[in-house]
Amino acid sequence: MNTCAPFSITVDSPKATFALGRRLAPLLTDGDVVLLNGRLGAGKTLFVGGIAEGLGITEAVTSPTFVIVKQYEGFLRLTHADAYRLGGTAELADLDLLDNPGVLVVEWGEAIEPSIGPDHLTIRIDHLSETSRAIVFEPRGTWQTREIDRVLP
Ligand SMILES: Nc1ncnc2c1ncn2[C@@H]1O[C@H](COP(=O)(O)OP(=O)(O)O)[C@@H](O)[C@H]1O
Ligand SMILES: [Mg+2]
Repeated sequence: MNTCAPFSITVDSPKATFALGRRLAPLLTDGDVVLLNGRLGAGKTLFVGGIAEGLGITEAVTSPTFVIVKQYEGFLRLTHADAYRLGGTAELADLDLLDNPGVLVVEWGEAIEPSIGPDHLTIRIDHLSETSRAIVFEPRGTWQTREIDRVLP
């Protein structure tokens, strides 16, 4: 069994963050949950835009902050939610997001992490400077047996 420990990559432009999201897309499968953490302006939405492009979605991804949840249809359905506005896990369940087909990506995911079960990928984006970010991948549960480090260039 391969194991994937947490790892980090430094990117130095918005384009590089987007490209990393795009490289994550082919590693995703039906039922996956990805939680994105990092302060406002870290690049969470941009990263989701990369995932969307990698999933064959042509529509531009915008922040779900005011609509709470947006869905896009690609090779897999992408459900993009914002836990900052979501009233916790109860609302996730009410919206049927946890057993929704496709991939669920949640910005401000740390808010729901304690209550969604062990199997998810947590990604934290840390500001290093105006244009550089450390993107930290933390596979949890069964994700630790997946080759998520193939996302690295
Ligand atoms: N390396 C980088 N990665 C991501 N975004 C960056 C980077 N450098 C600068 N930025 C800028 O930071 C902002 C990130 O916005 P956004 O993706 O909406 O963040 P969040 O969803 O985390 O609030 C964008 O304006 C983007 O151009
Ligand atoms: Mg955002």
